[in-house]
Amino acid sequence: MVRPARPHRHRRRPQEDGLLRADGGVLLVVKGGDRIGFVSWSKAIITRAGHCWEIGLIPAPEFRGRGYGTQAHKPLVRYLFDHSTVHRIQAGTEITNVAEQRALEKAGFTREGVLRGAGFRAGKWHDGVRYSFLRSDLPDPERP
Ligand SMILES: CC(C)(COP(=O)(O)OP(=O)(O)OC[C@H]1O[C@@H](n2cnc3c(N)ncnc32)[C@H](O)[C@@H]1OP(=O)(O)O)[C@@H](O)C(=O)NCCC(=O)NCCS
Repeated sequence: MVRPARPHRHRRRPQEDGLLRADGGVLLVVKGGDRIGFVSWSKAIITRAGHCWEIGLIPAPEFRGRGYGTQAHKPLVRYLFDHSTVHRIQAGTEITNVAEQRALEKAGFTREGVLRGAGFRAGKWHDGVRYSFLRSDLPDPERP
């Protein structure tokens, strides 16, 4: 059974935890006075001993295709490496989402491969693409 979305939970979260929790968070992307959209991250278990961050990005429709998607990934990567000990940040998108794939590649993410039938949307299973950015991918002088 699919659980209905519970938007009231999202409305309450800024008061409850400032949208920053140990297992994930949300930050607003702003430019000047404009609220461009938001980025989010959550814990993804990769081994019994460790986790990485899985990130997502949603610019508001009127700000898409203007370079903000690409620009927003870079400070998010930097922020997560600066504020946690994870070695790996990963991102996934549907294989047809060329804009997100380009934005990730231009932000320095490495394409790892195709995950067949990895996402269910609009009544169908869709292939996905997996990307990653490792702490060791940061240029030496920038590595925390
Ligand atoms: C995917 C998304 C995050 C990209 O952010 P954006 O700010 O629109 O992307 P940018 O403007 O930085 O453009 C990145 C690249 O995608 C290309 N692009 C942008 N919109 C495109 C579109 N509709 N179709 C194909 N390519 C597109 C740009 O030309 C650019 O590539 P280039 O440098 O080779 O020219 C944004 O469009 C979006 O949120 N879309 C809907 C929701 C979504 O898919 N979120 C991601 C969930 S995984």
